[in-house]
Amino acid sequence: MKDHVRSNWQNAVLVCRKCSKKVDGGFGPKGDQRLAKALRKHLALKKGRKAAAGIVEVGCLGICPRGAVTVVNGAQSRDWLLVRPGAALDGLAENLGLTP
Ligand code: FES
Repeated sequence: MKDHVRSNWQNAVLVCRKCSKKVDGGFGPKGDQRLAKALRKHLALKKGRKAAAGIVEVGCLGICPRGAVTVVNGAQSRDWLLVRPGAALDGLAENLGLTP
């Protein structure tokens, strides 16, 4: 068995799954998508490790903001973001360094 695999990810972004559930969607064109999915669609990312960046839902990150979703940018792990529903995905993608 191999001891490593390659991926195309330039960056990895962790999105709290539990926060996403709590705000019940809130993103995307109709405002009914979860943040991770809306961001992946917005950036037209491929699936899995073939994507240019990884946007991964993870368990509770221990911040638990009310009415926002905790997001960790793997490249800037010292500053975590609290993203409110309806936030502009363009601005968020830029903030996360995900724009081409
Ligand atoms: S529920 Fe998202 S950080 Fe705890």
